[in-house]
Amino acid sequence: CGIVGYIGHENAKEILLQGLEKLEYRGYDSSGIYLLNETGQGELFKEKGRIATLQSLIPTAASGTNGIGHTRWATHGKPSRENAHPHQSTNKRFTIVHNGVIENFSQLKQMYLSDGTFASTTDTEVIVQLLAKFVADGQDTKTAFKRVLSILKGSYALAMIDTATPELLYVAKNKSPLLIGVGKDFHVVASDAMAMIHVTDQFVELMDQEMVILQAEEMLIENQTGEVVERAAYTALLDATDIEKGTYPHYMLKEIDEQPAVLRKIVQHYQDAHGNLAVDQEIVAQMLQADRIYIVACGTSSHAGWVGKQLLETLTHIPVEVHLSSEFGYNPPLLTEKPFFIFLSQSGETADSRQVLVQVKEWGYPTLTITNVQGSTLSREADYTMLLHAGPEIAVASTKAYTAQIAVLAVLAEVVGKSKGLPLTVDMQHELGIVANGMEMMIDDKEKIEQLASEFLAVSRNAFYIGRGLDYYASMEAALKLKEISYIQTEGFAAGELKHGTIALIEEGTPVIGMITQENVAGHTRGNIQEVASRGGHVMVIAMDGLNEAGDDFILPKTHPLLTTLNAMIPAQLLSYYASLHRGNDVDKPRNLAKSVTVE
Ligand code: G6P
Repeated sequence: CGIVGYIGHENAKEILLQGLEKLEYRGYDSSGIYLLNETGQGELFKEKGRIATLQSLIPTAASGTNGIGHTRWATHGKPSRENAHPHQSTNKRFTIVHNGVIENFSQLKQMYLSDGTFASTTDTEVIVQLLAKFVADGQDTKTAFKRVLSILKGSYALAMIDTATPELLYVAKNKSPLLIGVGKDFHVVASDAMAMIHVTDQFVELMDQEMVILQAEEMLIENQTGEVVERAAYTALLDATDIEKGTYPHYMLKEIDEQPAVLRKIVQHYQDAHGNLAVDQEIVAQMLQADRIYIVACGTSSHAGWVGKQLLETLTHIPVEVHLSSEFGYNPPLLTEKPFFIFLSQSGETADSRQVLVQVKEWGYPTLTITNVQGSTLSREADYTMLLHAGPEIAVASTKAYTAQIAVLAVLAEVVGKSKGLPLTVDMQHELGIVANGMEMMIDDKEKIEQLASEFLAVSRNAFYIGRGLDYYASMEAALKLKEISYIQTEGFAAGELKHGTIALIEEGTPVIGMITQENVAGHTRGNIQEVASRGGHVMVIAMDGLNEAGDDFILPKTHPLLTTLNAMIPAQLLSYYASLHRGNDVDKPRNLAKSVTVE
């Protein structure tokens, strides 16, 4: 979910709606805004569906100088108008928007509100009803708000309005991301800077368990113990044009096309004064001391982590384990004596990954976050950060962040390996340049992919990607790409493992896409492809130049064997793009998903 807020002298309506549009990547199953004018008259608008639906039902005359807004990714309570935010107390005095999960909401309901009536089934409504109750019991709003915060368990980014004080906007944060934007005679609130970059580039970070009271010209931040906190604003380095689609029909297509440029940017950013690849010396020193590297990530980032494992093990000879954040957090593996942790996260905000980072920091081990978002929670909280320099990624299906993560890991692996003086070195700068050129060639060949997608993926219900070694890792990501936006049930499978059970699912016409970029296993994968073809599977082959055979569907330009996943992903991303398009799906905003998941 994402939240926004505004307090100032202008009409908040458009500012909030534009902000919500920018936050739609965080969820889009319902949305709403609340506007309060200077005389204390409030108007609430909310609806199931996209921001565009909300916009259409807000009258032009609606206005307020104090306002809050929300776009939702359902956790507690199904997507509906009732469950959409903002939520109000029964007496309509207090209105709130919330991102996060209140874990003890049913206990709080039982304990304090057993005789109350509720308009929704959300955890959020409990917060606002509790607030109203404590105020009704005689506390002033600020005291009551703090009391509510003190008994909440879980995560929250909150913005709250009290009709009795139209000049105040209350804000609080714990675990969920939240920023205050500072303008000349206004303040804004947003889950990320991108949402409010159209009105200010000055932002103040909030720490967990801080509460803020905003006025148009004043900001009061208090920590948990009630001490006033002074914190300067930073300038958000975001180019507003980076977050526009331009002439592209979808963000995903734009982001696929940007990949060669991103790789070149990464090479440029990680260079020393002599033009050699370089990484912060402290990171290198820490990694050289480590006896094992633990990569922790979710979704697409975890798939990049598998490729990173291969790169790091080959080039640095340090063993690497890859873990899913949501598993590691509660079932951690037995750690070695000197672990080094790498958190991979496009957004830098994923709650599953953050809970592991918090735990690892408590244990006292060194941590590095590799992320696309400067100043994000995971970046702030880790010892070290390496940025992806991929520019904002808006489409829910991750494309350029995946390839950027692999490229940054490749740079890191090479630099660490070199300082260890190992014999196998790769001129990574040169090799990544070759990859970027190859990507450009394939991106220019979209028609071929579009045709393949319309021929083979237009109606199928399920599909497979298979490969071995790095091609297996690429298959996992390619399969996720296809399933998340086309809704074709797709598995990325180790080619050799298919025959041990899963091959039972192959029917006449089932699409199976074989990836062949690794010389040592190319023959074996070909064999596995034959096994599928002889059982009626419809086979497509993506093979690297030199390993290709007559009849292969897509030939990848030759690249260094450790980097083939980067090129292999271009046809896979485009196949899923066109499959989704031809099936009439919303490519950039697939159903049920959110780009940044800030709940565990
Ligand atoms: C969400 C997105 C995925 C993404 C995952 C991890 O589930 O839909 O595309 O891979 O989060 O996100 P992160 O920002 O941590 O890389």
